Amino acid sequence: MAGNAWRSTVITTLYDKPQIIAICAIQTVTLIPGDGIGPEISTAVMKIFEAAKAPIQWEERNVTAIKGPGGRWMIPPEAKESMDKNKIGLKGPLKTPIAAGHPSMNLLLRKTFDLYANVRPCVSIEGYKTPYTDVDLVTIRENTEGEYSGIEHLIVDGVVQSIKLITEEASRRIAEYAFEYARNNQRASVTAVHKANIMRMSDGLFLRKCREVAENYKDVKFTEMYLDTVCLNMVQDPSQFDVLVMPNLYGDILSDLCAGLIGGLGVTPSGNIGANGVAIFESVHGTAPDIAGKDLANPTALLLSAVMMLRHIGLHGHANKIEMACFDTIREKKVLTKDLGGNSKCSEFTADICRRRLNGNAILS
Ligand SMILES: NC(=O)c1ccc[n+]([C@@H]2O[C@H](COP(=O)([O-])OP(=O)(O)OC[C@H]3O[C@@H](n4cnc5c(N)ncnc54)[C@H](O)[C@@H]3O)[C@@H](O)[C@H]2O)c1
Repeated sequence: MAGNAWRSTVITTLYDKPQIIAICAIQTVTLIPGDGIGPEISTAVMKIFEAAKAPIQWEERNVTAIKGPGGRWMIPPEAKESMDKNKIGLKGPLKTPIAAGHPSMNLLLRKTFDLYANVRPCVSIEGYKTPYTDVDLVTIRENTEGEYSGIEHLIVDGVVQSIKLITEEASRRIAEYAFEYARNNQRASVTAVHKANIMRMSDGLFLRKCREVAENYKDVKFTEMYLDTVCLNMVQDPSQFDVLVMPNLYGDILSDLCAGLIGGLGVTPSGNIGANGVAIFESVHGTAPDIAGKDLANPTALLLSAVMMLRHIGLHGHANKIEMACFDTIREKKVLTKDLGGNSKCSEFTADICRRRLNGNAILS
């Protein structure tokens, strides 16, 4: 958690009922607007947070890759220092230039801050029509190793080898995170997703660690399931799943599949949780260069990621108000962006959320 990132400043806020006075600390959050539609959707989130009087102060940072000592790619020191200090970040999409020579900035951020758990809650949104209405699950993906360890080489011409790295430490860490998450979020079960029948050593180790950790969480039901069975069962009836934990590649694919069940990446929030209290929340769609700068982007994914961030730092009241206002706008269907089936602009969608009683009843965290 971000305990030590809280500023000592204490402010007194007068809400619309003059007799109710709330005292809350302002937390500084590193904001990485990103590329393409990133700045537009970041502005939308900032406006909604302001309307909701969320006690968040933004510290904007750019994260274009730079070459550091010894020719190693790194994120700019100002961005690193800001994250080291604030611990909590919100990130828009970042473009990955093909053939620019540097690794994906998303990967670099994950590595720099050891963001080992990717968490994606996928919950059906009322009023947004999809083939499923009762999805309520969370995918937890190991973010640092597995098939994405980046160890690949040429054996002989025409034969390459890619190494899937699974370690005891990372497997235990992600399993513990998944069970803690389930316990803290009133979730009943954790399912380990694997292919230990084929990859006996690597997935076998992952599964063994999940089983061991499960022993310490008797209040959370533990099940294990093959990846292919999960995919089959998921599209037949997603309501049977709760929290799912899995190695990197399975998580990459399954988390997008689950996002598809609730309407796609435009409405799915995501958080990357790291060691030492660091966490970066992000929209997982891309930079949408085709609509960038045209005021057409849907800010929902970044907004819901920011809501997830508020819950992570304990601001549940503000999180609930903002989420409710966003869902009300979607349910009413009067002001929707094009991707959600409407004709409104990003700024109009944002204004519709802001005009709701975000500030109503002075429910404070
Ligand atoms: N998390 C990230 O930072 C991330 C993720 C994926 C892709 N990318 C990068 O984004 C760039 C473009 O990638 P792409 O074209 O494959 O995928 P994309 O997600 O940017 O676009 C795919 C389609 O979805 C639409 N779209 C995406 N987000 C939207 C939103 N919020 N509102 C409305 N419409 C939206 C786009 O207009 C486009 O038609 C690439 O440089 C890629 O590397 C970044």
